[in-house]
Amino acid sequence: MKMTRFFCGAAVLAVMISLIVPAEAFAAAGKKMRIGVSLPTQRDERWVRDAEEMRAVAKADGVDIKMQVCDNDAARQMSQCENLLAQGIDILILAPHDATSAGAIADNAHAAGIKVISYDRLVMGTNNVDLYVSFDNFAVGKLMGEYLTRLVPKGNYIVLAGAPTDNNAKLYREGAMEAIKPLVDKGDVKIVMDQWVTDWQPTVAMNLVQNALTANNNKIDAVLAPNDNTAGGVIQALAQVGLAGKVPVTGQDAEDTAAQRIMAGTQAMTVFKNTREQARVAIETAIKMVRGEKPETNSVVNNKKMDVPSILLTPVVVDKANIDEVLINSGYISKDKVYKK
Ligand code: BGC
Repeated sequence: MKMTRFFCGAAVLAVMISLIVPAEAFAAAGKKMRIGVSLPTQRDERWVRDAEEMRAVAKADGVDIKMQVCDNDAARQMSQCENLLAQGIDILILAPHDATSAGAIADNAHAAGIKVISYDRLVMGTNNVDLYVSFDNFAVGKLMGEYLTRLVPKGNYIVLAGAPTDNNAKLYREGAMEAIKPLVDKGDVKIVMDQWVTDWQPTVAMNLVQNALTANNNKIDAVLAPNDNTAGGVIQALAQVGLAGKVPVTGQDAEDTAAQRIMAGTQAMTVFKNTREQARVAIETAIKMVRGEKPETNSVVNNKKMDVPSILLTPVVVDKANIDEVLINSGYISKDKVYKK
């Protein structure tokens, strides 16, 4: 009896030690865990928030972050990641600029024995992704499409999608079209322009809308803008012909300027994705994975090669009616930023 208890105790102790050792191994070796992060851009405010939060969480958890930003350049992202791997990171968090070519980055990481977390944007066509941390991106698009079709059930639509290199852009478009297509099929909605926006650039979005306005004698009733930054470009084009505030425009990211436009009535809505939570989940899960723990997931997303275990967070629609509650009371944006004139 005593022996059995002893063996049980010893077994439990052995399990405990095996769980503890990897974390302590870092401390014992006198080095901190190093998390490599590769981001596509800082041009959209959300990626600035992601970067800030990742740094803050890593600092609080006592791990090092090595962060690189490729500024929408796939070749640069590849060489920056090679560099990170050469420096000896323990795990790679990768938000690809080009979803498909970034597959080679994941392959290189695995070849070096380094696990890969695909962040926000899915890395496509590779078996070498260990985890995906994102939002339900089809739902993001659907929320935009539903909002727009409720406001404008009939009329001329401009449909803008994000960058064709970003798998999210496809999902946002698909989600939005689930709401818009039935109205097109009924003959109530006419899509007068349907275009991708290269690299999510606001100036590209602005030029496209200028062209559509000219081609349609300014008879545009609604614009699906795929994010807040492009919505800014769209609204500039509408303002040039006196239509800002008269034509509903969608968005996502809950950027400060979008919140201001929602209050001013020139942007109808945004989709709030809590990037701070997303960044925290990514860093904390990365730490667990380096320690050899299995992450808890709530979904899988196929990348055309494998079903990637995923942690998907939930997006929320924000408009004038709930902006205080969702963005200000939660502390995501300060009141003076939202109400800045
Ligand atoms: C992100 C959006 C962002 C866009 C442009 C997408 O992959 O999900 O939040 O606005 O990229 O940076």
